Amino acid sequence: MQNTIILPPTKETELKQFIRNITADAKRKDLIQVLQAVQEKYGYLEKESLRLVATNLGVSFSEVYGVATFYHQFRLQPPGMYVIQVCMGTGCHAKGNADNFENLKLLLEMKPGQHLSKDKVFSLEAARCFGCCSLAPVIVVTDSTGAYRKVYGHVDQKGLKKILAEYRKKAKEQEESETKCEMMVCQK
Ligand code: FES
Repeated sequence: MQNTIILPPTKETELKQFIRNITADAKRKDLIQVLQAVQEKYGYLEKESLRLVATNLGVSFSEVYGVATFYHQFRLQPPGMYVIQVCMGTGCHAKGNADNFENLKLLLEMKPGQHLSKDKVFSLEAARCFGCCSLAPVIVVTDSTGAYRKVYGHVDQKGLKKILAEYRKKAKEQEESETKCEMMVCQK
């Protein structure tokens, strides 16, 4: 009797399956929620995801692309290890977050139009009001999937430097523990 070998799903088939599942009962009006679900799982919306969402919902690619580029919340590029979201709501804007945003760009050495730091540790995004305006100006740091989320209030120039140092340290520790794991696998 011949054994059947079941291969693990590739990223492509997994993506197709995931989008098929979440669009099974979805309609055109659910487009934003569908895109949110894809981004929550994969961290960003690659072109193939947009194409699959369009096909499964029966809408045009340009409509899906238009929605994905219109809203701040969607990313079309892979995010850094940590995503810094700077609130641009009225309260935070008035209390200095426009300056904080520019200062972060300088500290992360991002050129105009760039949103990812060179070392790929940080992504920088402008965000809408987080609903905690009494802490203005507010910055939220998440990991690339959004599973980790920390809110920082009353952030000033000194605070920005502290936040960057905190996450650079975390990123370094994570990198070191991954290297250790790889070495342990190699030694087996
Ligand atoms: S305006 Fe920034 S949290 Fe509301």
